[in-house]
Amino acid sequence: MDISTESMAISMGVLLLAAFLLLLNKSSASTKTHLPRGTMGWPVLGETLQYAALRRANRGRDFYEERRKRYGPQICKTHLLGSPVAILHGSAGIRFLHSNENKLVQSTWPSSIITLFGNSLFGKAGDDAKDLRATLLTFLKPEALQKFVGTVDSIVNEQLSRDWVGKQQIKAFPHIKRCLFSVACALFVSLEEGALQDELYAHFLDLLTGMMKIPLDLPGTLYRKAIVGSNQIRRILQTLIEKRRKDLASGSASSEQDLLSFLLCNKDERGNTMAEGDVKDNIMMLLIAGHDTSVITVTMLLKFLALNRDCYREVLREQVGIAHAKGEKQLEWSDLQKMKYTWRAAQETLRIHPPSEDTWRKALVDISYGGFIIPKGWKLLWSTNSTHKSAEYFDDPEKFDPSRFEGNGPSPYTFLPFGGGPRMCPGNEFARMVILVLIHNIVTKFEWDLVDVNEKVSVDPMPAPVDGLPIQIRCLSVASLSAT
Ligand code: HEM
Repeated sequence: MDISTESMAISMGVLLLAAFLLLLNKSSASTKTHLPRGTMGWPVLGETLQYAALRRANRGRDFYEERRKRYGPQICKTHLLGSPVAILHGSAGIRFLHSNENKLVQSTWPSSIITLFGNSLFGKAGDDAKDLRATLLTFLKPEALQKFVGTVDSIVNEQLSRDWVGKQQIKAFPHIKRCLFSVACALFVSLEEGALQDELYAHFLDLLTGMMKIPLDLPGTLYRKAIVGSNQIRRILQTLIEKRRKDLASGSASSEQDLLSFLLCNKDERGNTMAEGDVKDNIMMLLIAGHDTSVITVTMLLKFLALNRDCYREVLREQVGIAHAKGEKQLEWSDLQKMKYTWRAAQETLRIHPPSEDTWRKALVDISYGGFIIPKGWKLLWSTNSTHKSAEYFDDPEKFDPSRFEGNGPSPYTFLPFGGGPRMCPGNEFARMVILVLIHNIVTKFEWDLVDVNEKVSVDPMPAPVDGLPIQIRCLSVASLSAT
C-alpha cells in the first residue's frame, strides 16, 4: 500500500502524538535486545513516509540499501503501514521465506484489501488457499490457456487498428491498459466491447486507483470510491451470472468458454460448486491482480526497445519471422514458444521494473533468523526490486541485457517477478501469453520513438512512466517488414 496525499494530512495531525510516543518507545528499547537491529521510526507512522517517498521517486531500492549498510547484510527491523516489520535481505532471506510458507510464515495482504475483495484468494490461508489456488490454476494453466491465444490475438488486432492506426502520437500506457482490459473481459466473462464493458472499466479504474490508498471509508476518499467501485463490479457480474446460468441451461453457452462458466460449473471433490458470491469476488480479484502488472511490463518493454536498438532489431527479426510464417492466420500457443528472444527481453524488463517491488509475509510464530528473533505477528518483507538490482547477482545491474536469461538464466532466488513458493503468482502463464501476443502485434505493425527519453518512472504502487509514455508511431508497411 502506498501513502497518498491523504496520508500527508494525517501525518501532520499525529506528529505531536508521535513525538511523545517516540520517547516512550526509546525507554522500553533496552528490553528488546533480541530483535533485529534498526529503527521503528515514528510511532504510528513508523518509516512509512520515507518508504513511500523513495518508491514514488523510483528509488525504492535505496530504502533497503541504506538499512543494509547500517544494520547488516541479513536482516533489520522497521515499522511500515501500521505494522512492525522485519526486512530479510537478498536471496538467502527469500529462500528462507519461500521454504517456510505455512510453517513459519503466511501470505498477507492489508486488511483493507481483504475487505474489498471479500472471499477471494487474497484473504485465504493454509488449506483453503491451496484448494482455491488449485481451482483457479485449472483455468490458468498452459493447457487450459492454449485455446484462448487466437481470441487474444484478434482482440489486440482490433484494438490496435482502431486506436493506433492513423495516429502520429499516443500515450502507450493508457492504450495498453484499455486493450488488456478488453482481453480480460473476453477471457473471464465473454463480455464484448460496448457500453457495459465501458461501465465495468470505469468501476474497475475506481477500484484500482483507491484500493491501495489510506483505508478511510469516508465520503470523497479514494478508498470509499474503491468500495463503491467493487460493489458496482459485483452488481454487473451478478447480471452476467444470471444470464450465463440461462445460457448454460439452454446450451447456448459452454462450460469451458471462459472463467465465469468454468467457476459456475466446476465441482470440488465433494461435488460442490463455488458459491455465487465467491465467483464474483474471485473474478474481480483476477481482473485486478492480472491487469496493471502485465500492462506495465508491455509499456516498459516498449521503452527499453526504443532505447536499445540492437535488442529491438532482434525482437523485430523474431516476430517478423513468425508473422511471415503465419500469413493471415491467428497466433497459436506454439507460436508463443518460438518467441524466445522476445520473452527474454520481457523478463529483463521484469527484472529492472518488477511490477510488484516487494512482497509481504506474516510471522505465524516467533522466528529465529540471522541471530535475531522476529516476534509472532510481525510482517516480513523482501524486496524483489533490490534483489534484481544487486551487483552480487547481476553484472552491471542497471543495463538492459536480455542475454542474462540465456541458458540456465539467473541463480535461484535472485529473479522473482512472480514471487515464489506456494503462493507464487498463479497468473504467470496468462501474463506471458498476453504480453507476447501484444508485443507481437505492436512490433509487426508499428515503429515507435519515445517523445521524452528522460521521462521519469514513479512507483505508486506499481512502476509507471509519469506521463503515460507518449510515443510517436508509424505504421509499418508489408514492404518494410520484408526487408527486415
Ligand atoms: C507481469 C505480470 C504479473 C506479475 C509481475 C505478477 C506478480 C505477482 C506477485 C509478485 C505476486 C505475489 C506472489 C507472492 O506472494 O509470492 C502475485 C500474486 C498473484 N497474482 Fe500475479 N502477477 C502478474 C500477472 C498476473 C495475472 C495475469 C494474474 C491472473 C490472471 C495474476 C494473479 C495473481 C493472483 C491471484 C495472486 C495471489 C496469489 C496467492 O495469494 O496465492 N497475476 N503476482
